[in-house]
Amino acid sequence: MGWSVVDEKKINNQYNPSQTCVPLILSGPEGRFWDKLTLCKMLKNKIMKNNAQKFWDKQAKRFDDRDKQFKHANQELIAETKKYLNANDIVLDFGCATGTKTLKLAAGVKQIHGLDFSAEMISEAIKKKDKINATNVSFSQGTIYNDELEKVIYDKIIAFSIIHLLEDSEKAIQRIYELLKPGGLFISETACFKDNMNFKTRFEFTAFRIMRLLGIFPLHLNMFKTSDVEKLLTQHCFHIVKEERFFFNGMSISFMVAEKQ
Ligand SMILES: C[S@@+](CC[C@H](N)C(=O)[O-])C[C@H]1O[C@@H](n2cnc3c(N)ncnc32)[C@H](O)[C@@H]1O
Repeated sequence: MGWSVVDEKKINNQYNPSQTCVPLILSGPEGRFWDKLTLCKMLKNKIMKNNAQKFWDKQAKRFDDRDKQFKHANQELIAETKKYLNANDIVLDFGCATGTKTLKLAAGVKQIHGLDFSAEMISEAIKKKDKINATNVSFSQGTIYNDELEKVIYDKIIAFSIIHLLEDSEKAIQRIYELLKPGGLFISETACFKDNMNFKTRFEFTAFRIMRLLGIFPLHLNMFKTSDVEKLLTQHCFHIVKEERFFFNGMSISFMVAEKQ
């Protein structure tokens, strides 16, 4: 008997990876090949997304210790970002992890919200926020598509080390555009794996990509060149106001500030 997809949203809401049975919403005896293919892709993406969340959950407790080795680079990133923030700004930090950078940026803005799909990362972030009693900071678990995020309210949206990890980077940029106020700034730092990479890092990333194809490594890696990131922004009506490339930790990184037109 054939079947076809009725409602993608319902599938996403009802699928629970811990259950052995996948409650598909199917209908009709005349399911087409493409419907089945789409369904398989959706389920694969959902499983990979859940695995990616679990991957980051496991990193949460050690994230700050590991991040300490990048202390100097992080300080520079914070200092550069602060140049674009104002005291009256409402800011969203997309992919905030344990909130270290969110909390560092909080002093220069009116309100900052850290968002991350890893519950464990957010739990660590909230502990740190409570410890220092930061009153203009909030954190929540979720994705950039969460309905709770209001459109056109953010003056600045920050995305450090996340755009190269997104399977739907085009859709995410479109959503960021929608959430920003006109004239608002998108401030990003993105690894560009297709630009320069030293031999060791290239070897590691090739191994990760092969493991990903085999379903062993959970993270999606966009093989961007800096020009791909530029294109991603400009084709979604952003105007690039600042661009800086640097080589760090064996790979090329691109820092960009783009204005919503
Ligand atoms: C490499 S870490 C970067 C963390 C932080 N921005 C920083 O610079 O220290 C990537 C973070 O993005 C989060 N993340 C990855 N994909 C996500 C998605 N689709 N939605 C929300 N968070 C995501 C991960 O949970 C992780 O905490």
